[in-house]
Amino acid sequence: MIMKRVGFAVGIAFATSTTSVAQSQRLTNRPAETRFVDSVLARMTLAEKLGQLNQVSGAGNPTGPGGGERAARMDQLRHGAIGSFLNVVGADTTKALQRIAVEQSRLHIPLIFGLDVIHGMRTIFPVPLAEAASWDPQGAERAARIAAAEAAAMGIDWTFAPMVDIARDPRWGRIVEGAGEDPYLGAAFAAARVRGFQGSGLGSRDAIAATVKHFAAYGAAEGGRDYNVAEVSERTLRDVYLPPFHAAVCADAATLMASFNEISGVPSHANRHLLTDILRNEWKFDGMVVSDWTGIGELLNHAVAADSAQAGDVAMHAGVDMDMVSEIYLHALRASVAARRMPMAEIDEAVRRVLRVKYRLGLFTDPYLRRDAARERTAILTTENRAAAREAGRRAIVLLKNDQSTLPLRKDVASLAVLGALAADSAVVLGNWTALGRREDAVPVLDGIRRAVSSRTTVTYARGASPTSDDSSGIAEAVRVASGADAVVLVVGETGEMSAEAESRSRLDLPGAQKELVAAIRATGKPMVVVLMNGRPLAIERMQETVPAILETWFLGVEAGNAIADVLFGDANPGGKLPVTVPRVVGQVPIYYNHKNTGRPPTTEKYTSKYWDIPYTPLYPFGFGLSYTTFAYSVPRLSATTIGAGDSLRVEVDVTNTGSRAGDEVAQLYVRDDVGSVTRPVMELKRFQRLTLRPGERRTLRWSLGIGDLAFYDLVMRRVAEPGTFRVFVGTNSADTHSAPFTLRGMASIPVPDRCP
Ligand code: NOJ
Repeated sequence: MIMKRVGFAVGIAFATSTTSVAQSQRLTNRPAETRFVDSVLARMTLAEKLGQLNQVSGAGNPTGPGGGERAARMDQLRHGAIGSFLNVVGADTTKALQRIAVEQSRLHIPLIFGLDVIHGMRTIFPVPLAEAASWDPQGAERAARIAAAEAAAMGIDWTFAPMVDIARDPRWGRIVEGAGEDPYLGAAFAAARVRGFQGSGLGSRDAIAATVKHFAAYGAAEGGRDYNVAEVSERTLRDVYLPPFHAAVCADAATLMASFNEISGVPSHANRHLLTDILRNEWKFDGMVVSDWTGIGELLNHAVAADSAQAGDVAMHAGVDMDMVSEIYLHALRASVAARRMPMAEIDEAVRRVLRVKYRLGLFTDPYLRRDAARERTAILTTENRAAAREAGRRAIVLLKNDQSTLPLRKDVASLAVLGALAADSAVVLGNWTALGRREDAVPVLDGIRRAVSSRTTVTYARGASPTSDDSSGIAEAVRVASGADAVVLVVGETGEMSAEAESRSRLDLPGAQKELVAAIRATGKPMVVVLMNGRPLAIERMQETVPAILETWFLGVEAGNAIADVLFGDANPGGKLPVTVPRVVGQVPIYYNHKNTGRPPTTEKYTSKYWDIPYTPLYPFGFGLSYTTFAYSVPRLSATTIGAGDSLRVEVDVTNTGSRAGDEVAQLYVRDDVGSVTRPVMELKRFQRLTLRPGERRTLRWSLGIGDLAFYDLVMRRVAEPGTFRVFVGTNSADTHSAPFTLRGMASIPVPDRCP
């Protein structure tokens, strides 16, 4: 009945739209969609148009201090002054609001409900940085698929994810939300997550629209301080920060979010070069751009706008379509149109983009598609979803050290001490941005261990110390418990809140009295394993020197305790690799593997690029991770020593499991361009593959490289590959590789347009 009303209001017939992952389809002519959107637009008043561009948070408190706030919201809704809600969840709740929009507003335009579904809805998966440590984009796609299906059952049409910001500075708390420091790895995860959220087609009931964010260079915040200025050149922007965004656009991300930061003096919400020249004109993005939370209003603080009206004008002109929370479009743009400062055509275009996303999501056909109370009860936190989270958790764990095969532990050890406040904490394993995740759903490490050990094993717990307090009074008890045990599992790190939005840290060591705790337990001489939990690389040089075994477990979500126990006791063999370089001390930051050589690369000589007091090298290099088995690599074999612009270079390498256990290895291929017209990184990741090998098994991996893999922005900002010599490196991490040279033939630089693959 309601569907008819919507159809009647706009006066045309329409069908559910679908969106596919192929760029060709993204750009295909969609006459039915265009006709439909234009026909709705043609009936809209300016007020209704501005309403579509307005996104509000929450439906308003009916009883709280805001008193009539909810009534006022509902009034806005009836008048078509709200196009979208964020932070409103639940099949029934969203249905009730949707009903008002489609039954009581003049044009019956459905709402779109958005939420930060970052690493799971109710079934919380590993945080994105952890997922990236799996080097398994398909796993990330599966996780996003499950998150989307759960969110869609609970009334959500749209997630503000994936976050694809490259982060080279672990002080920046939001490093936890992305895939780390590398553009290629980041692009693979960006595309996978978009595919996962959007499924086989945006119009299906278990798909939600993705938002690729934050556009752009948000992770380049000076000093790692959130929201701070980014000073990156156009070349670094394009070579390093933009590739994951472009990959997400190529994977058909329905929407994109502008970032809070400025780049070289231009705040992203005012950056027409980014939001229009690059995004629309170069990349042909036809989805919707949403502001970040009050991002348009913040143009006043950036002081590129003197008042709200100017902020609204600047943002609209730059290419921000929907205003998250600041309500500036709603209140200020009318006057701009009247004063002829703002052409109606610009507003129309923004409205079209909003309507288009709603159309693609199938909301005009069935506004209640994603609000299903029955599925909300049955399809959430299922056994299968939990099993998927456990598998994702195991795959994300990185073994950083394992002297004398301390790990895996025996399940029948007589007594085991489990120490550290984080070990018993079920909230912390969920990490940050937990959507509807609940601590009571989560398995802390202590519980996972208790379930895993033999019935003869005594597990004793002591809190010892926590990341949030300097109180060391519990350390003595922890030492006593450790001294009476055969082995110790010590869980230390950060809380989920320490690495997230507005959670930058100036230090990268273990917070609170945890360093003291580690030293005291080490002094007992007991066999010990440190389980790290954190959302950023931690500078743990001292621990690396003194502790025999270290497992990096990030924040693994609802099944963390079980996944960690699987690895501690050898039911799973760790195969994750670091998606970020880990510094020795905070003073090395920013430190990343794909750096430039400099005019004075570090040697033992004095006048070279290094520090007086610490080595130049990181504590753990990008791509590093051990296993309970060992792997050997052959030297890479290349199909040719010279290639031309149209050729592909085939690379083969043998990887052998040389140990006695089955295990996963992530083989990594890097390329170095020996000489360029501008300086080139010392190496760049271009391919990787996670594989499982039985003991003694040898596998030959085959990759093909093309001209696109050699491209960069040259002196005059053309994307080119330059003839000359290159090297291919293949190995187990960025610092441990075998290499082989080849030459790209040609007289001049070869243009390589930045097209979707
Ligand atoms: C601000 C954050 O920067 C952004 O990532 C998030 O999606 C919005 N708030 C909405 O919660």
